[in-house]
Amino acid sequence: MAEPQPVHLHVNGQQHVLNVDGQAPLLAVLRNDLALNGPKFGCGLGECGACTVLVDGTAARSCCLPVAGVAGRAVTTLEGLCQGEDGLHPVQRAFITTQAAQCGYCLNGMVMATVALLRRNPSPSDDQVRSALSHNLCRCGTHLEILAAVRLAAAEMAAHMAAQA
Ligand code: FES
Repeated sequence: MAEPQPVHLHVNGQQHVLNVDGQAPLLAVLRNDLALNGPKFGCGLGECGACTVLVDGTAARSCCLPVAGVAGRAVTTLEGLCQGEDGLHPVQRAFITTQAAQCGYCLNGMVMATVALLRRNPSPSDDQVRSALSHNLCRCGTHLEILAAVRLAAAEMAAHMAAQA
């Protein structure tokens, strides 16, 4: 383990300066130092997607990112998505409505990857959804419900945008 060093992090709109091993995984720092438990530890190998966060708006696996590598960049966790009166992002609400979660362990990764997808492509095809979520593993097999959740979230976000125009 390397000597701790000051690392400047920008997480969910807040600035932090933490004395940590710069090579420590971002996931560990988020969970252990900032008590942000939305991102989950699954494989620790970049394979399952449970640890997904957004870095500058792009989905990234936080278990494989050295924390020093995201210094000064905008990191968003599940906690940073909260909005609306119920405190939920439309993507979270859609996953609940469609009952897409069973054990729920993949949910953080699925939601974060969906948010990233809908930001860059507000109206994805089913194939584009499958491709965007292909690195997020769900062992409960609720893939049809997850697809329905993404469709519902896209429709609700589009309706919201239209109402604001
Ligand atoms: Fe990061 Fe599995 S815990 S990809």
